[in-house]
Amino acid sequence: MEGFDSLPDGGPGELTLRRIRRMASGGAGLVWAEATAVTEDGRTNRGQLWIRRETLDGFKRMAETAHEASGGAPIILQLTHSGRFSKPRNVPAPVIAMHNPVMDEKMPLDPSLPVVTDEYLDALPEKFGEAAALAKEAGFDGADVKCCHKYLFSELLSAYHRPGRYGGSFENRSRLFLDSIRAAAVHGDRNFVIASRFGAFDCIPYPWGFGMDRNDPAKPDWEEPDRLYRLMAECGVRLCDMTLGSPYYNPHVNRPYDNGGYDPPESRLAGVKRLLDAAAHMKKAVPQIALIGTGYSYLRQFAPFAAAAEIGSGHTDAAGFGRMAFAYPDFARDILKKGALDPSKVCVTCSMCTVIMRKMHATGCPIRDREVYLPMLKEVLGK
Ligand SMILES: Cc1cc2nc3c(=O)[nH]c(=O)nc-3n(C[C@H](O)[C@H](O)[C@H](O)COP(=O)(O)O)c2cc1C
Repeated sequence: MEGFDSLPDGGPGELTLRRIRRMASGGAGLVWAEATAVTEDGRTNRGQLWIRRETLDGFKRMAETAHEASGGAPIILQLTHSGRFSKPRNVPAPVIAMHNPVMDEKMPLDPSLPVVTDEYLDALPEKFGEAAALAKEAGFDGADVKCCHKYLFSELLSAYHRPGRYGGSFENRSRLFLDSIRAAAVHGDRNFVIASRFGAFDCIPYPWGFGMDRNDPAKPDWEEPDRLYRLMAECGVRLCDMTLGSPYYNPHVNRPYDNGGYDPPESRLAGVKRLLDAAAHMKKAVPQIALIGTGYSYLRQFAPFAAAAEIGSGHTDAAGFGRMAFAYPDFARDILKKGALDPSKVCVTCSMCTVIMRKMHATGCPIRDREVYLPMLKEVLGK
């Protein structure tokens, strides 16, 4: 859960450390730290974390803060390149693998924008390898090679029409992601896990999205996602935090909500079910990867029961909480110690965290963490 509150050099800022401290002290067994760029031009905005030698001391503080606050729970760092959503100086500077008319419906791009070259892509695995090495040196317990939400690696998975080494065949479309995992995995060992935030399918119709049935745009076709997931394991991924969809195209798929940019075209619980069912499929397909399921925050105080059922029936190894962790960082302790969540503290899936994010390039929960984030929301809404 990124807050886009880095220092100007990309190192963690005061609010980043506050967020990590709050999340880590809340009793969760694992902290999965937010999207962190491996190159400057791959930052979503000027507030996104950016790991490099010059910012390493800040990342050391971040890992130390988490370990101290949690009493030693592991912390994973998410490594990313934001691709078409890159905005390193707070103005769009998309790095695109392909033109995508379906994505353009929501976020149109200039049709004359050149697609990124193979030579640019060739250099990225080394950057992910270096970033993983730095995360290890900083004291993190693992690195996540992110491939989801239509950021660069995830966009490449559906680059059916791209010519060259990174488009067309499954091998070409998955090449950069797998090469980057291999480069990070050089640094993997018993104390440093190679992980991935992996979007199993996009819910964006073929040929513009990954993992979808060629004849039914709403249905996944698991053939390629399963194949890729097996290869991820072969390349060294031992832990996966699953996800679906793209927050830029179909946020109701990505994070079922009560209030957001549009009314979801399905029941909210159908969205939760899609996420839980996908996790169950993945756990069965590649049992050796430890899996974290997604989609629980929408369920509010009922989430622990769904999580217990999913874990108890072997559909997932753990339950991941995103927006809930912004709103109620102690949620895990309350589940473990009190057996229940406090309804007055849960995330209400109102999407105000994303409203602030779009305008301020910083975010948190203005409803439950009012002192810091309500003033930001008021400023954004002009109140
Ligand atoms: C404000 C905000 C920031 C997010 N930051 C990240 C991120 O840095 N990396 C990531 O993989 N997903 C990110 N997500 C997506 C969440 O991790 C999660 O997949 C989604 O919110 C659904 O889970 P939930 O229902 O528990 O919130 C973010 C979502 C929101 C709303």
